[in-house]
Amino acid sequence: MSLWSLLSSPVWGLGFVLLILVPLLRLGVQIWYKIHLWDLQGCSTDLTGKTAVVTGANSGIGKAVSQELARRGARVILACRSRERGQGALTEIQAATRSNRLLLGGVDLSSMASIRSFVQWLLRESPEIHLLVNNAGVSGFPRTRTPEGLDLTFATNYIGPFLLTNLLQGALQRAGSARVVNVSSFRQAHGYIDEEHLIGAGGPLTFNQNYDCSKLLLASFTGRLAQRLQGTGVTVNSVSPGVVYTGIMKNSPWLYRFLFWLLSIFFKNSKQGAIPVLYLCLAKELDGISGKYFSSSCVITLPPKAARDPHVAQSLWNTTVRLTNLDKMD
Ligand SMILES: NC(=O)c1ccc[n+]([C@@H]2O[C@H](COP(=O)([O-])OP(=O)(O)OC[C@H]3O[C@@H](n4cnc5c(N)ncnc54)[C@H](OP(=O)(O)O)[C@@H]3O)[C@@H](O)[C@H]2O)c1
Repeated sequence: MSLWSLLSSPVWGLGFVLLILVPLLRLGVQIWYKIHLWDLQGCSTDLTGKTAVVTGANSGIGKAVSQELARRGARVILACRSRERGQGALTEIQAATRSNRLLLGGVDLSSMASIRSFVQWLLRESPEIHLLVNNAGVSGFPRTRTPEGLDLTFATNYIGPFLLTNLLQGALQRAGSARVVNVSSFRQAHGYIDEEHLIGAGGPLTFNQNYDCSKLLLASFTGRLAQRLQGTGVTVNSVSPGVVYTGIMKNSPWLYRFLFWLLSIFFKNSKQGAIPVLYLCLAKELDGISGKYFSSSCVITLPPKAARDPHVAQSLWNTTVRLTNLDKMD
């Protein structure tokens, strides 16, 4: 059979077109990202003498962020729930950066007890924290209650960062000048605020809308916390990394994971997804900027209206303080 007659058959012909088209598309997407992403290499910020804490540092965006912070001389505390996966990431980052200033801390962000014991350890290790990256997150879970009576997705994506950041406020302020970076998502636009969701109740949620809602709460929290921290030298902002091919879909049904994989040629890789997060961590022009939401193009963007409502934000703050027992602390 001649090559021409082989390529004329629908199956082989389609296969041949895909073989040419997919790498070309991939190349085009990579060039587009190269042109449009923030110029990380052009940023000269040096982090020698600074301490950074990155949650969910063992994979995806968190690992890429940790590696860059370590490369710039920071002491990086990798806050991971699995010692084994955390140690794997630490070894990898150490080999890539030759940094001997990496430390592994164990924390399950969905558990308030785990966060409290992590903070006790962390404050002994490092009384001053210059950078806190609230990166850990989950998606794809149906409503699931944690042993502490919280919804798993809301606990991990919103209550965990809320509690951790509040417990570390003293250490952040002691640093003199510090940044908190909340890793959010453009999906927040599809969420709505219902405080009952925090305890696994409340209004209806379509598939994965608990993820969208939890990120919306994070935006509300970012705005409210920024107001409370005014004049302390600590800033807090949130950012969308864009669509990044990582393990974030690992708890979703196989069809979603398959589609995510299929479309991954259009998505950023972890290093590219880390760039907007690193922009908030490193860019000198963001000194003093607080309470903002940044798009994946590193542009200040208005978060959804619900996240900007000061009454909603105050009520949510009070409810979360009660749920986390922060009001019972001396
Ligand atoms: N990928 C995207 O397209 C995308 C888009 C918008 C926003 N984001 C956000 O980016 C952040 C990083 O996600 P990723 O894309 O890099 O996905 P990933 O590779 O799955 O990373 C998520 C990290 O969070 C950790 N984590 C999950 N639950 C935790 C818990 N209870 N306690 C402590 N750590 C926990 C995971 O640890 P394990 O390995 O132990 O599970 C993992 O290290 C998330 O906040 C996500 O919502 C991602």
